[in-house]
Amino acid sequence: MAAFDCLSYIYNMKVIYTAFVLWLIAVSCVNDKSERAVITDSGLYEISKNEAGFQYFKMNPDTLSAHRESPHGSNVRIRFNNIAVSAMNDSISDIRGDRFPDGSLIVKEIYDFPGDDLNLLSIMYKSSNDPAAGAGWLWNEVGPNGEVIYPVARKGDGCTGCHSAPGNRDFIRTFSLH
Ligand code: HEC
Repeated sequence: MAAFDCLSYIYNMKVIYTAFVLWLIAVSCVNDKSERAVITDSGLYEISKNEAGFQYFKMNPDTLSAHRESPHGSNVRIRFNNIAVSAMNDSISDIRGDRFPDGSLIVKEIYDFPGDDLNLLSIMYKSSNDPAAGAGWLWNEVGPNGEVIYPVARKGDGCTGCHSAPGNRDFIRTFSLH
């Protein structure tokens, strides 16, 4: 093989090798994205069950009497994680703009009576590109020990209709009702 042929052979192999590596990177990125999109019922329960890192609505941890339009039980406490709080006003009574950012988590604790044991957690988690999202949120309800009452897989069917009623802000009802 002449020296020139040999050089062009090496050059061609390099191009093919580089293209192969780039293809591998592209394929692994695509897979990575689809895996990241799904958050499970138990994953949501884990990040919702403890109060640490949350702020209560209006910075007040007292129970509120649920609004008459609420299906969730008679006494409630609503808390917001730090990502949700970053989009809210200083008194934690309303959202500043139009939308909560992805990663916002809003948890409603439901009780029969103020000071009673917890009955239920209703959860909204903002994940706008998630295939299980309904109106940009994941919707979930779990019992006090994490037992799934309403799974994320239902995509907010039965939740979004009521949460898009007049006065909602990014599907949050509390701001205009309490
Ligand atoms: C019939 C109407 C209605 C339906 C259906 C409904 N909600 Fe609500 N939801 C409310 C109202 C009203 C509030 C305001 C707080 C209160 O008084 O309970 C609320 C509050 C919440 C909150 C606190 C944040 C906010 O929007 O104020 C979460 C979280 C929540 N609901 C989750 C759910 C989930 C999950 C479902 C479906 C499984 C659901 N809701 C179905 C009416 C409804």
